[in-house]
Amino acid sequence: MEITIRRAEPSDFEALWRIFADESAYSGTLQMPYPSKEVWRERLSKSHQTDYILVAEVDGQVVGDAGLHPNTSTPRRAHTAYIGMVIPAAWQGKGVGTALMKALLDLADNWFGFSRLELHVYTDNKAAIALYEKFGFTREGTHPRYALRQGAYVDSYSMGRIKA
Ligand SMILES: CC(C)(COP(=O)(O)OP(=O)(O)OC[C@H]1O[C@@H](n2cnc3c(N)ncnc32)[C@H](O)[C@@H]1OP(=O)(O)O)[C@@H](O)C(=O)NCCC(=O)NCCS
Repeated sequence: MEITIRRAEPSDFEALWRIFADESAYSGTLQMPYPSKEVWRERLSKSHQTDYILVAEVDGQVVGDAGLHPNTSTPRRAHTAYIGMVIPAAWQGKGVGTALMKALLDLADNWFGFSRLELHVYTDNKAAIALYEKFGFTREGTHPRYALRQGAYVDSYSMGRIKA
C-alpha cells in the first residue's frame, strides 16, 4: 500500500468533512459531531496563511489528515507549534498516522526549525500515545476532566517533543 502525503487544498473540504464525520475520529479530538461542510471549506481556504494541513492519500482517496499549527500569539513562542491528526476508523492501524507524523516532523525540524512541539491527547487513547512516544514525544502533565466525550469527562496528557 502506497501512502502519499501532500498539502491539503481548499478542494479537499469534502474529504476532511467526511473524515470528521467518523465518530471514532472526532471522539479522539475536540471536534463536535455533525461537522459542517461549509466550516471545513472556509477553514481550508484560510488555513494556508498560518497552518500546514497535510493529507494522506491511498489510490487517490484521502485517508487521513494532520496539521502543524505555529503558535503565533507572541514572538517568544515562535519556536513552538502544536500538532494534531485524524485517521478514520477504516484506515487506522495501517501506518497512515506514522506517514503523516514523519512528514510533519520533517517540516517542523528541517524547514520551520521548531524546537518544541506540543499536543494534547486523551489518556485512554493508547494508539495515539504509542504513535507520539514512538516519535519522541513525552508526557509532560495530566489535565483532569479536560473535555466532555460521549457524556463523560476525560483526562488528557500534555505531550511535548524537544529538539535541541
Ligand atoms: C491515533 C491515530 C492518529 C494513530 O494513527 P494510525 O494511522 O492508526 O497509526 P499507525 O498505524 O501509523 O500506528 C502508529 C503506532 O501506533 C501504535 N498503535 C496503532 N494502533 C494501536 C492500537 N490499537 N493500540 C495500541 N497502539 C497502537 C503502534 O505503536 C504503531 O506503531 P508500530 O506499528 O510501529 O508499532 C489514529 O488512530 C486516529 O486518528 N485516531 C482517531 C483520532 C485521534 O485519536 N487522533 C489523535 C488525537 S490526539
